[in-house]
Amino acid sequence: MTISTIKTAPYEGQKPGTSGLRKKVKVFQQPNYAENFIQSVFDVVEGKEGALLVIGGDGRFHNRTVIQQAIRMAAANGFGKVMVGQGGIFSTPAASNLIRQYGAIGGLILSASHNPGGPDEDFGIKYNVSNGGPAPEKVTDAIFQRTTSIDRWLTVETPDIDLDALGTVDVGGMTVEIVDSVADYAALMETLFDFDAIRAMAAGGFRMAFDAMSAVTGPYAHEIFEKRLGFAPGTVRNGTPLEDFGHHHPDPNLVHAKALYDLMMSADAPDFGAASDGDGDRNLIIGKGRFVTPSDSLAMLAANAHLAKGYKAGLKGIARSMPTSAAADRVAQALGIACYETPTGWKFFGNLLDAGMATICGEESAGTGSDHVREKDGVWAVLLWLNILAVRKIPVDDLARDHWARFGRNYYARHDYEGLPTDKANALIAELTAALPALPGKRFGPLTIAAADSFSYADPVDGSVSANQGLRVMFEGGSRVVFRLSGTGTEGATLRVYLERYEPAGGALDEETPAMLADLIAAADAIAGIERHTGRTAPDVVT
Ligand code: G1P
Ligand code: ZN
Repeated sequence: MTISTIKTAPYEGQKPGTSGLRKKVKVFQQPNYAENFIQSVFDVVEGKEGALLVIGGDGRFHNRTVIQQAIRMAAANGFGKVMVGQGGIFSTPAASNLIRQYGAIGGLILSASHNPGGPDEDFGIKYNVSNGGPAPEKVTDAIFQRTTSIDRWLTVETPDIDLDALGTVDVGGMTVEIVDSVADYAALMETLFDFDAIRAMAAGGFRMAFDAMSAVTGPYAHEIFEKRLGFAPGTVRNGTPLEDFGHHHPDPNLVHAKALYDLMMSADAPDFGAASDGDGDRNLIIGKGRFVTPSDSLAMLAANAHLAKGYKAGLKGIARSMPTSAAADRVAQALGIACYETPTGWKFFGNLLDAGMATICGEESAGTGSDHVREKDGVWAVLLWLNILAVRKIPVDDLARDHWARFGRNYYARHDYEGLPTDKANALIAELTAALPALPGKRFGPLTIAAADSFSYADPVDGSVSANQGLRVMFEGGSRVVFRLSGTGTEGATLRVYLERYEPAGGALDEETPAMLADLIAAADAIAGIERHTGRTAPDVVT
């Protein structure tokens, strides 16, 4: 078998962010581009000789092309075996599970998560390490360094293989196994949840609507919800993965999953509504007439997780990203366990999960998961909700009210200002950073600032410090505004403003969120000068 060394110029350093390298498809289609990045990954993987590598993606446009490239390059780089999902499909959590289950050295996950797909849209490549989680910063830094000097990539000269035929083939002396994308993941879910109880609930007339958003969770949802749990055919909507997600953003929020939201607020709403994103790691939970914010979902799942067999021994700890509301902190306090506050990005949970310090983790951006894999997991979150509802036998709305009556309620919203000129967004953050020390004591309407800082995280496991992870403005009484710039956008800058108002148990628990946040929204603009810097008078997306 010929191994070809393709000469290439160094390509200006491509820095993988928290979710790998994300660019427009057109960028990835440039000669040598994807190959340079993949080779940079392979160049920093130690012990790849003879090792197993997992490869799969969310099925978006360009997925199959890059999978074929990556298989040939893995063979030329000395991997022993590659495991690929049928049709090139793996949800991100399913890929994480396979890496762990089969002792792979790592995996390439091809996805741009919730970003749109298609020839003019986004693509991404992420490398996960042997614990199944996203590569930690020291690895992504090494990959970045390698991208600045790479001058060749290796490939074998072989034709494309059939990605749809299950079984094993040889590529340049390396074994490629095409595996069922769903089977191992579904089996893992059966070990965590009481499928009999959920099946009985479905048989008893409990109805669900699951929107797979024409993305990767379709095959998982059909198999698990309809086939194994007996929910009626049609429970899974948009269940066929499409290369362009049917021209939609596969982002399970109130904007992009509006059809599901409208259904759940209508008179003939089913009992439970849920959706997942492009690569299957995010989730949206809506009960009949009750949207559950991701921050609340984390807290409610944590408070009830012991009702599912996989968590009956209780939780070791809870972890949430800094902008996620403090609702989970109150649950942790009641359970007498630790609650960790980490920077945005799932990779920061990895050490806590590996060290057995946390069992459940979550982010306000619709990510929830546990120590069963090292990624957030949309279908897992839906199953945990279903398991809890099957045991408690109450509607989602009652469960939420019950939770707030016990712990108080964290009214919450995130305002996104998208496509900002980068210099303007940077100026806003720089000016606010400089102003932080003078903020405590200042009053904005009824609100008084108690403290303000730039969030810095010292990892309790390895001691590494991540600074500048978002600007926090805390008010007296437990309300808060957080400002940070997105690290995952592909066009200009996105400013995220996270608004949170705490009402203790016995307080105003049954109000509308926008009204409850109005003072905070006004304060946020006064503090950061959003309109002055950006010219924007309203956010593009409110979630
Ligand atoms: C966003 C979310 C963050 C999540 C990441 C990857 O990152 O805010 O919670 O971990 O996507 O899914 P951001 O664009 O804010 O940097
Ligand atoms: Zn995702």
